[in-house]
Amino acid sequence: MTIAQSPAWKSLAGHAADIRRLHLRDLLQNQDRCAAMTAEHDGIVLDFSRQNATPETMRMLLTLAEEAKLRERIKALVGGEKINNTEKRAVLHVALRAKKGEKILVDGVDVVPGVLKVQAQLKAFAEQVRTGKRKGATGKKLTDVVAIGIGGSYLGPEFVFEAMRTDPACAKAAAGRRLRFLANVDPIDVTRALDGLDPATTLVVVISKTFTTAETMLNARTVRAWLVKKLGEKAVAKHMVAVSTNLKEVAAFGIDPANAFGFWDWVGGRYSVCAAVGLLPLALQFGWKPVQQFLDGAHSLDRHLVEAPFERNLPVLLGLLGVWNSSFLGHGARALLPYCQALLKFAPHIQQVDMESNGKRVATDGSVLPFEAGEIDFGEPGTNGQHSFYQLIHQGRVIPADFIGFRKSAQPVQGKGEPVSNHDELMSNFFAQPDALACGKSDVELRTEGVAAELIPHKTFPGNRPSNVLLFAGACDPYAVGQLLALYEHRTAVQGFIWGLNSFDQWGVELGKVLAKQVRTQLATSRSAKGKGARIEGFNPATAALLKRYLAK
Ligand code: F6P
Repeated sequence: MTIAQSPAWKSLAGHAADIRRLHLRDLLQNQDRCAAMTAEHDGIVLDFSRQNATPETMRMLLTLAEEAKLRERIKALVGGEKINNTEKRAVLHVALRAKKGEKILVDGVDVVPGVLKVQAQLKAFAEQVRTGKRKGATGKKLTDVVAIGIGGSYLGPEFVFEAMRTDPACAKAAAGRRLRFLANVDPIDVTRALDGLDPATTLVVVISKTFTTAETMLNARTVRAWLVKKLGEKAVAKHMVAVSTNLKEVAAFGIDPANAFGFWDWVGGRYSVCAAVGLLPLALQFGWKPVQQFLDGAHSLDRHLVEAPFERNLPVLLGLLGVWNSSFLGHGARALLPYCQALLKFAPHIQQVDMESNGKRVATDGSVLPFEAGEIDFGEPGTNGQHSFYQLIHQGRVIPADFIGFRKSAQPVQGKGEPVSNHDELMSNFFAQPDALACGKSDVELRTEGVAAELIPHKTFPGNRPSNVLLFAGACDPYAVGQLLALYEHRTAVQGFIWGLNSFDQWGVELGKVLAKQVRTQLATSRSAKGKGARIEGFNPATAALLKRYLAK
């Protein structure tokens, strides 16, 4: 039986019709409802009173969670069960944030000591590089790092790097150091990543779970050649290190496995930022202290997911509301709107976390889902987004939005003579937008204001557009970044559990890779001396014509 056949799902489907008759403008007048529709954990307030929902909706969603056996599924996740059934793997990114003394078993073996051991190695290695104890081939200090990786081996690390680098303590710790990311196989990205860097002071970290990803391997070979050209073959040992689960391939590439940091098959790529994947570049840039704070923040949310009652459990509430908006109210997209420029790479990271996880068509048992799962995640920091796509959110399509804000700025500014601080100015927008979406502006109000009749339809805001507000008690510091990361990782898992799909495989990325291989072979043949003018074979006429044009002299 799929969850869509459950009584709870059917009741919610009926309830959606009642909810559609209500307007947030009115619902927000109800003080009891507003109070009931907030939850709090460790300095994070979630206000979900601007959802098209009532306490009754929440009760029904909690019943749905029970019918979907959400409690058992969360237990299986954190208990190391092989819930990634198509790859027969456990899914244990929570173990990456575990504390000494906690026990998490996979196949009867406690994985926590191994995690802590790698963390100690990373800490020591980063310290050696940062202090200059470990130098480059010419004896110079390694001040710059190029992290090569793509997908989960890039998006999470870059998100956290950007989020941390304006934290005052992180900025101080990173003085004189540079961290660059190289992800795209586009050679332009190589130029961008290496621009202004000197191989003699550069450490290259090749990050790939499989160590077979075509883009990463080509970029690694390209950067290796850049190093070798200036420093010679022998320099590779001092200038290239790796992060992977596949130490055999690391060795085959020519990186000494002694210079490799491992992780485990129970860490999914998009959930790997708390493994050496993220921790190594971050520790090299900022030192270990903020990295530990980041892990602690994530750990706080991990415990909360397991321990908090569902009605006060932030990731569970977010996940249930995601299912509600998507499966019952028909909203296929959602916007991530951090009012914090440091979170500019949050949306790209969550795009992978969420869309690669829940963008599925079948249930865990392979049966076709009777509903569309997954949502289109996108976003930009406010206020930038307001001057871009908010027009559509206010007057075009209904897109549930998450507003994420901080009570304090990591870089406060109060201009002389300005009525409010720059952060207060930012936050004025943060508090205004959710209400503008929810309440809108009616034609009656516009008429009262004397707006010209012909402009009234254009200036009308229908409102009744849902959003969440997440307000953090402090500034966007490493601890908060860890909390935010885990909160969204767990929201995705909750939605996948409710929908009954496997959020932890990603077969949908494979077909394109296979076809690219076929194109690569054709391009190589056509361009080779022997193959000049070689027939383009094995493609449909449309692709063959494009390839012909691409290869034309
Ligand atoms: O795009 C597919 C994918 O497999 C992602 O899931 C993964 O994060 C990325 O490629 C990179 O993989 P790897 O770390 O093995 O290079």
